[in-house]
Amino acid sequence: MRLDPEDQAILQGEEGETRQRMMEILIALGKVFGAEELIPISSAQVSGASYKTIGEWGLRWLQSINARVAVPTILNPIGMPREGWEEHGIHREFAEKQLAILEAYRRMGVKLECTCTPYYIHSIGYGDHIAWAESSAVIYANSVIGARTNREGGPSALAAAIIGKTPFYGLHMIEKRTPVLTIEIDGNKAIDRNEDIFGALGYIAGRKAGNSVPIFTGIKPNRDQLKSMGAAMAATGAVGLFHVDGITPESRIFKYRVDALERITIEAKEVEELFRSMDVDAVAIGCPHCSEDELLHIERLMGGKSVKKPLYIFASRHVIDKSRRVVERIRKAGGFVIADTCMVVSPMLERYRTIMVNSGKALAYVPDMCGSMARLGSLEDCIREAIG
Ligand code: F3S
Repeated sequence: MRLDPEDQAILQGEEGETRQRMMEILIALGKVFGAEELIPISSAQVSGASYKTIGEWGLRWLQSINARVAVPTILNPIGMPREGWEEHGIHREFAEKQLAILEAYRRMGVKLECTCTPYYIHSIGYGDHIAWAESSAVIYANSVIGARTNREGGPSALAAAIIGKTPFYGLHMIEKRTPVLTIEIDGNKAIDRNEDIFGALGYIAGRKAGNSVPIFTGIKPNRDQLKSMGAAMAATGAVGLFHVDGITPESRIFKYRVDALERITIEAKEVEELFRSMDVDAVAIGCPHCSEDELLHIERLMGGKSVKKPLYIFASRHVIDKSRRVVERIRKAGGFVIADTCMVVSPMLERYRTIMVNSGKALAYVPDMCGSMARLGSLEDCIREAIG
């Protein structure tokens, strides 16, 4: 790999042992994927923030890092809300470990906004090179914004944040962003049935697309629906970028390829099958974290009625602060609007046997990560279930 003199100096240990170790991580990664150089990044998002997922070993590793981030860096959701965790059944021992993780990141200069929707906070633009780790944030940045990031792991995103660079390979290169597969939806019948099916479409598409770059035709999702579809696709598959013909920013560049590609179809029946009926003990919304529009939509659907089943809604602090009045009304009706964490990376919801979600990603992860069964519904179904 070509390294400039500054990179060489870091690699020689002239800027301390931690920066040297971080540079070694980037170079090792670059060599595996055939990168010829490192490129500067404008933003990083680091995963591996919940004590539930990284445990004691992860905490010790973070505490051993003695360096500060070189670019604006945001954290993924942690295992509990920073305030009021006692109300949600979080044990003190867990909370202390979680707070120690946060402290380790704070020392590194990471912004303690713990969210999988960093794009509502960091303004990143088309063509920007970034190093983000959370798979739903990665696919959103690549597909909806047209920024460029690989699916970083926790350590590689942190190394990129500290050095301010990432190896130039994969989705940083325009030729790796070309669609290789067309996905169409069975005559759009499924969409006629229920416009809130994009999480389900992503869930199925991820299984079919594996780690390729698909382009969808015949659908017109809005930004929140793209967010939901991408998150699910990145969970059931290893997709880091998708295009939607006529909607996503890079689709116009690759439009010429649509008819020449292998074509697969998502059948209406496959979508229907995901919406199985079963009794639920709680409802969880906000995977990925809700936007301001989604919070408003939830509040309108609730129509001032009180919650009868536990209703958990997850969003970033930033979005909750900007939606203060809406959030107050949801809370007054008995709903929990919670920052910093989510239904998957927190132990909070593990006490429920069955959880209803409106997210294809949560449908995929809740059973393994929480030990609960998950039922998929539209946002409307979820609110109806919660308010009875
Ligand atoms: Fe975000 Fe948690 Fe879902 S990190 S994408 S809300 S699993």
